[in-house]
Amino acid sequence: MNPGSGLGAPADRTPVAAGPDGPALPLPDREAVLEHAARLILTAWRSFDHARPGQPRPGADQIELLRRPLPAGPSDSRAALDQAAGVLDASLAQSRPRFFAYIGSSGLEIGVLGDALAASHDVNVAVSAGAADLLEAQTIAWVGEFVGFDRHAVGVTSESGTISNLTALTAAREAALPGVRRTGTAGRAMALYCSAEAHYSVRRAAELLGIGGANVRAIPIDAARRMDPAACAAAIDQDLRAGVAPVAVVATAGTTLTGAVDDLDALADVCARRATWLHVDGAYGLPAAATGRAGAAFRGLARAQSATVDAHKWLYVPKPCSVLLMHDVAALERAFAHEESYMLHGDRPLHAVDRTLEYSRPLRALKLWLAFSVHGADAIRAAIERNLGEAALLADLLRGDARFELLVDPPALSAVCFRHRPGGRVDLDAHNAALAEAVAADGRILLAGAQVDGSTCLRACFVNHRTTEEDVRAVPDVVGDVAARIRPA
Ligand SMILES: Cc1ncc(COP(=O)(O)O)c(C=O)c1O
Repeated sequence: MNPGSGLGAPADRTPVAAGPDGPALPLPDREAVLEHAARLILTAWRSFDHARPGQPRPGADQIELLRRPLPAGPSDSRAALDQAAGVLDASLAQSRPRFFAYIGSSGLEIGVLGDALAASHDVNVAVSAGAADLLEAQTIAWVGEFVGFDRHAVGVTSESGTISNLTALTAAREAALPGVRRTGTAGRAMALYCSAEAHYSVRRAAELLGIGGANVRAIPIDAARRMDPAACAAAIDQDLRAGVAPVAVVATAGTTLTGAVDDLDALADVCARRATWLHVDGAYGLPAAATGRAGAAFRGLARAQSATVDAHKWLYVPKPCSVLLMHDVAALERAFAHEESYMLHGDRPLHAVDRTLEYSRPLRALKLWLAFSVHGADAIRAAIERNLGEAALLADLLRGDARFELLVDPPALSAVCFRHRPGGRVDLDAHNAALAEAVAADGRILLAGAQVDGSTCLRACFVNHRTTEEDVRAVPDVVGDVAARIRPA
């Protein structure tokens, strides 16, 4: 376009000169650049084999680099890649073996390569994409078989557990009130039912779907921190009497805070009697259903209409890779199928955009397909068992150490909530809040500060394939050491 031409200026009729042969944005010396990038990745992987001695912080030169204006001209790609690797090394990486905060992903190496390959081809699985569609479908079925949901599972991959939950609940809303996607809710009251400790993404879905956050019934939990099925049934019945449409019960299979797994079988009974959709939010915990150690807690899973599993959490692959499992893809199509003037179906099968809310979608399944292909389901199952064992080991260490108390004992799945008791008259909440910050600043291990029943505590979650027993044993030592520093005896 003419740089000076504004709205209303006559169109520039100068013929556009054809460019020289080759791409507009070539990568000079690309073989050497690729080898350089591979070396940088290998350096990162080697550094992840070890704990980090302290918090990463950007240096002065990096701060200057990250404030520079838009570069107009080219620069050397190897130097730019070095700068990029430096920025990443000065950032908090969940890949490190002593990252116990939140529920991390841990950058499984074959998954990293899967992402690089997928990005190179840049297949778009929004539209029918040939072999890539088959690979995504196969990966979803493998996950369905691995966790015991359905070995013929169908569904879709998405960006996050939040999006998978929203996708499932959009299908549930259409099933509860057919036609609602077109007509809107027309003043019809709706409700969702979930554990008082369900993830916020359930409430967010209610907000986005016109159900309303206030109509999420937070069902009380029992002593094992599981949603009370009888209270859930009573809440649904009360809503039915009041003319409120139950959209779905969202059972959590591994709460974010403590790892509690709702009683899926009892909730499936509640739902079956009321023809209500059961969705299982297993974003964090569902991979543990594949293990001998924890599998029994997930009985009834196959009876749910849909289930979320985040492969970028406890199946170790890098973000993003969430999987929504369903038995019946038609329920998704009823919620999402549509025609676009530039994307006709004709006699062809529906596109993936007819089964999910996203349009452009990368082939996220490739990294997970590679993880199952390269390591095999047995090794992945064993890695999850090992994480469960790490949580049990930490609980044992803390139980036997008078400086600590467990707030949830025994821990469910791989989340351990505990606090430090320095002795004497101390405000334990304030002490543990300060301790959480001091441990983060120290940087030798990373824990999250959390609250269980109003008590401030520290929380360690084991979902990293690189974590070793030595890393687990470091937790009481480092926390005790930092605690003594912030509050000398
Ligand atoms: C139980 C549960 N559901 C949903 C989510 C949201 O997942 P994402 O962060 O991938 O959106 C989380 C995140 O930790 C979670 O623990």
